Amino acid sequence: MHRLTYHVLVCNGGCCHREGGEHLLQMFRREVTRLNGDHIRITETRCTGRCVDSCSVVVYPQGVWYRNVTQESVHAIVQGHLFRGEIQQELVSYTYQLQNFIEH
Ligand code: FES
Repeated sequence: MHRLTYHVLVCNGGCCHREGGEHLLQMFRREVTRLNGDHIRITETRCTGRCVDSCSVVVYPQGVWYRNVTQESVHAIVQGHLFRGEIQQELVSYTYQLQNFIEH
């Protein structure tokens, strides 16, 4: 098993599904596969409780919550965060710091 570096939770609950969550999920999987991202696991979730931010995506272990994720955001998150380690600040709603989630 390859060393796992990132776990990406792509919400596909009711709100996010209506905003294209299934398509975004497939985009994440295709992009990560295309770039040989064996260090990344993508998981579909039910509602993560942030419908106001649909589509919502969370990246661990950093605990970064991305809001209003679009097709363009998928490329930025995959190539920027998951492959270069650059958190996409303009898309962040919360980060985990000092044992708490901090709102941005
Ligand atoms: S359905 Fe995605 S945050 Fe609620």
